[in-house]
Amino acid sequence: MSGVIAVIGSGGQLARALRVRLARVGRGALFFGRRACDLSQDRALLENFAANMPQASGIIVAAAYTAVDEAESDADTARQVNTVAPEVFAIEAARRGIPLVHVSTDYVFGGNGSTPLKPDAPTNPINVYGRTKRDGENAILATGVRAAILRTSWVFDGTGKNFMTTIIRLGQTRNSLAVIDDQIGRPTYAGHLAGACLAALKGLQTQNDFDSRIYHFSGSGDAVSWADFAHVILEVASGDLPQPVAVTGIPGSEYKTLAKRPNWSVMDINLFETTFSCRAPHWRDGLAAAYAEWQNAQKKAQT
Ligand SMILES: NC(=O)c1ccc[n+]([C@@H]2O[C@H](COP(=O)([O-])OP(=O)(O)OC[C@H]3O[C@@H](n4cnc5c(N)ncnc54)[C@H](OP(=O)(O)O)[C@@H]3O)[C@@H](O)[C@H]2O)c1
Repeated sequence: MSGVIAVIGSGGQLARALRVRLARVGRGALFFGRRACDLSQDRALLENFAANMPQASGIIVAAAYTAVDEAESDADTARQVNTVAPEVFAIEAARRGIPLVHVSTDYVFGGNGSTPLKPDAPTNPINVYGRTKRDGENAILATGVRAAILRTSWVFDGTGKNFMTTIIRLGQTRNSLAVIDDQIGRPTYAGHLAGACLAALKGLQTQNDFDSRIYHFSGSGDAVSWADFAHVILEVASGDLPQPVAVTGIPGSEYKTLAKRPNWSVMDINLFETTFSCRAPHWRDGLAAAYAEWQNAQKKAQT
């Protein structure tokens, strides 16, 4: 894989993890954050930005409107960021003849199942965020660009605002937490997701026989509820907590949110693993890595 990679996004979990990975391998990359390009701006402005981006060997779209609850009352912005902007970058990538890697979500699914969802399983989003991401996938595929769209789930790292960091923060002041136990999925460490994006881009850049399509990528290992995940997080972080924290499972119906969430979003990651010869690491390994990041950030904050 050679040539600078253009990353749309800069400050989010995935963009930060891409920055770390690319620096580690000495790979050139340009990151375009919100200040360089606000993805909610008019299509014509986005097209102008895309057309004037420097030369690149591929584009990774790492930014998205990820505020799932806010999207319910801000659907136009969510659509602009999650549907229109990815389409614009896909059109530009196709015009330049370079591949595009885009990231989508398990929330394109409606949520009732019991076996891992394959990439061609019917979508049925039950919230605005999921609908705008699903429409973004379709818009990209319709452009004819050489693309890999990676649907992922339950992304976390050691420094972002995510489930892991929230549970540790709450665990520092409480001795019991009520956590949803009827939504089942698989967590994904942002560092592993970044590795998957780069493996997909490399595949698209070095082999010509990939059809543009959707893949599933998450941490491997056991499917868990949020309550299970919280329990494991608290176990891993126990050395940094003042007391043991009990987790009580509650149904999602008892935890009111503006957006509905799917009850089942476990994805079958085989197609990704076999196509790109890239094993998805276990989410527990990702948790260990994210916890180390969290500890480093705490140390830095204290000095
Ligand atoms: N987080 C999850 O649990 C999860 C689950 C499934 C799928 N995904 C998908 O995974 C991908 C990466 O997500 P993530 O976890 O890295 O998300 P994240 O940490 O929430 O970061 C999202 C990034 O998008 C940027 N962004 C939002 N609106 C923008 C706008 N109008 N213009 C420019 N930039 C904008 C944000 O910029 P600011 O920092 O300036 O706000 C932020 O840096 C996304 O495609 C997401 O849909 C995430």
